[in-house]
Amino acid sequence: MKEKSLRGLLLAVAILLALPFTANDARAEYGDVVMNNFADAAGMRPVVFPHWFHRIRFRCKVCHADLGFKFKAGGNEVTMAQIIEGQFCGACHNGEVAWSIENCDVCHSGTPGTATQVHGNTVKSMLGKKAK
Ligand code: HEC
Ligand code: HEC
Ligand code: HEC
Repeated sequence: MKEKSLRGLLLAVAILLALPFTANDARAEYGDVVMNNFADAAGMRPVVFPHWFHRIRFRCKVCHADLGFKFKAGGNEVTMAQIIEGQFCGACHNGEVAWSIENCDVCHSGTPGTATQVHGNTVKSMLGKKAK
């Protein structure tokens, strides 16, 4: 009987502890986004997009409405030609709003072979799972 209620207590504590972690899931969008629809295949390192860095500087709307970025890692088939024409990253990385595209390595900084994903996901790191 005593053991049973202790188990019940432990279970309740475990659930309470788990709650904030569940809530944290919504923060996954703040992690870096690895974009690798084409880069690897084209012999370039995958692109690492620092989401948090950008989102504290610009409103969500700028990218997700005005520039058309979908709310999904890898959801946009972005090519360098489009960027050079001023679409997507190229709307800002044009030497005016931000440094321009000749700085290949600043964007193409991922480890070769890293799949498209949200990297540095809070929940993943708390669980000790290393993002591939
Ligand atoms: C502002 C960020 C940024 C810079 C700077 C940049 N790229 Fe990219 N590049 C991207 C993104 C985003 C993609 C799409 C990634 C994907 O999904 O594979 C991409 C994709 C590519 C691709 C594969 C798709 C395609 O169009 O063939 C090549 C090749 C490429 N870049 C070459 C370059 C070279 C060379 C430079 C420097 C002259 C450069 N990039 C600079 C962001 C950048
Ligand atoms: C400077 C541009 C920019 C700004 C500002 C920005 N985002 Fe993003 N966001 C992106 C890009 C780029 C991606 C990845 C899209 C891709 O890989 O094709 C992304 C991806 C996402 C995703 C999907 C992540 C996943 O799990 O797949 C979510 C959700 C998101 N953004 C939410 C937001 C919210 C909320 C804000 C404002 C608080 C915001 N973004 C501001 C550019 C931006
Ligand atoms: C709405 C404008 C905007 C868009 C769109 C945008 N960037 Fe940026 N980005 C900036 C600005 C501004 C900076 C800071 C430039 C500086 O420090 O001189 C920056 C900086 C960066 C940095 C360097 C971050 C650091 O830690 O210094 C990377 C990497 C980067 N951007 C990649 C990208 C990629 C990849 C895309 C497209 C997926 C993109 N950006 C789209 C405005 C933008």
